[in-house]
Amino acid sequence: MKYEIITLFPDYFRRSLRQSLLGKALDKGLFEIEMVNLRDFATDKHRAVDDTPYGGGGGMVMMIEPLDRCLRSLGWKPRTESGAARVDSVLIVTSAAGKRFDQETAVRYSLCRNVTIVCGHYLGIDERLGELYDVEEVSIGDYVLTGGEPAAAVIVDATARLIPKVVGNFESALGDSYMNQMLGSPSFTRPPEYAGLKVPEVLQSGNHAEIRSYRRREAIVRCYANRPDLLEKADLSQEETELLETLRKSK
Ligand code: ADE
Repeated sequence: MKYEIITLFPDYFRRSLRQSLLGKALDKGLFEIEMVNLRDFATDKHRAVDDTPYGGGGGMVMMIEPLDRCLRSLGWKPRTESGAARVDSVLIVTSAAGKRFDQETAVRYSLCRNVTIVCGHYLGIDERLGELYDVEEVSIGDYVLTGGEPAAAVIVDATARLIPKVVGNFESALGDSYMNQMLGSPSFTRPPEYAGLKVPEVLQSGNHAEIRSYRRREAIVRCYANRPDLLEKADLSQEETELLETLRKSK
């Protein structure tokens, strides 16, 4: 799997991607990341990559020419051109106006051979990019960032950890919050008691069936408190549906 991040600020990523589990996975060659500086594809002496919007209104728009040149250099082909297209690849543009990024999307991207992310800036990108190429416009949440770099970092993190062997315990990645349309259960570690607060007995019991059922129950309680919308789609047993009813009544 290879990520290509097209950005005006390649330095943004240099340190952050070298840290922690992702840094180790990069060292082991479990995936690759190439930073591509969009300014290298500008042709004027100022290396301009943006211009004022047609129709006025202030702000700047990312120009299509440097982006098109950049994408071609990476092996992307406009949809109208013949020849071998990139297979098992996705071209993403980060934008507050995009479709919401979620775990299901992260799983889909993690199965790709190439993930190219264009970090959007200013007012956005000339709309014709989406006509030339098959582009997925992605937003990481309902708020506006100053640029697409933090969004690209989020997408890389959430997808790379789903690549086999990147996270030591793959089972733990599968049990993640959202992986099964449900939030994760609360976690505890030593000491068994702190400031009078005890770790639930069941987690220390060694009884795995009881621990599983405790965790599932707590996940439902947490989900109800924080993200009740997720429970609408969750596959609940009879007992769990009753628990949900009790939670609703006790409100
Ligand atoms: N650029 C600005 N805001 C953004 C967001 N919420 N998600 C992705 N890219 C963005």
